[in-house]
Amino acid sequence: MASGFESLDSEPDVLIAKCPPGAESMNRYSRIILLPILVVMVTGLLSCSLESRDERRARARERQGIILAALEPLVVDSPSMQLYKSHTCNTCHGDDGITPLLPSYPVLARQNEGYVLKQLREIKNGERANGQSSVMAAVVANVPDEDFVVLAAFIADELGDGAPIGKGTPDPESPGATLFKRKTCTACHGKDAVTPLLATYPKVAGHGKEYAIQQMMDIKNGIRANGMNVLGMKGIMHLVTEEEIGQLAAYLETMPRPAPEPPAVEETTE
Ligand code: HEC
Ligand code: HEC
Repeated sequence: MASGFESLDSEPDVLIAKCPPGAESMNRYSRIILLPILVVMVTGLLSCSLESRDERRARARERQGIILAALEPLVVDSPSMQLYKSHTCNTCHGDDGITPLLPSYPVLARQNEGYVLKQLREIKNGERANGQSSVMAAVVANVPDEDFVVLAAFIADELGDGAPIGKGTPDPESPGATLFKRKTCTACHGKDAVTPLLATYPKVAGHGKEYAIQQMMDIKNGIRANGMNVLGMKGIMHLVTEEEIGQLAAYLETMPRPAPEPPAVEETTE
């Protein structure tokens, strides 16, 4: 029995004997020293990975910037706009087709597609040779017809980017407004001057005053004599005086040439 107690009592002595002397205090010291080292290492690792993520983001942004800069000309100009500029149309008619080089040049943007195509062909082949058409004839001499087709659609639908056309506010009481109805201009050009009777007739709203006067005078005098269409208008111009032409042009300059309506979104019923 006694030996049983002895063996129990001896157990703690054996445990203590396994650790070298002073081990208990070493343990405490190592905890005091190791803990801060661990903290420093962990925060170091964390900030390291945070920094590298920031760096990675910065690098990605830089790469993105380089790619976007390279794409910029393509993003800004549609293929049709590139064609418009490559044929230098913009130098006389403006990048927007609304602000021509000279006030005696036409406002192109949102002009009737069929009419534009007809004018391009007739200026090229010399049928329309009035006023300053010759300066443009030299430019379009080598432009192929398939480019005219693209340009006509572009001018009608895209050029001008929805910017307003028409200076100031039209005055329905003005002499020009009265004449526009009384001289039956509305029959061919529409009450609003933007809904022409035929696809090959022009929208006359929003033209600069100088350009409109020049064209009306040239049609009246037979200098602008490109085809049958223009003859219809010539027929009534002998009833319109030079003074009235000035009043009509002043009114047309104020008339808006609105952007085409966006295509209607079909509602889906489910
Ligand atoms: C050097 C200047 C110049 C260049 C370049 C030029 N045009 Fe013109 N354009 C004119 C002038 C000026 C007129 C009006 C002529 C007149 O006095 O009747 C005109 C008339 C037109 C008309 C008829 C407008 C109307 O309302 O009757 C169209 C359409 C047209 N240009 C499109 C173009 C296109 C497209 C290009 C490029 C392929 C182009 N022009 C290049 C000067 C230029
Ligand atoms: C019988 C139809 C008809 C009548 C009426 C008529 N026009 Fe025209 N007008 C035309 C046609 C067609 C053209 C373009 C001819 C062409 O070059 O093909 C034109 C061209 C014009 C132009 C030049 C447009 C441009 O972009 O170069 C102006 C401005 C104009 N008309 C104003 C008037 C005014 C103002 C009246 C009334 C006094 C009038 N027209 C009456 C058919 C008509």
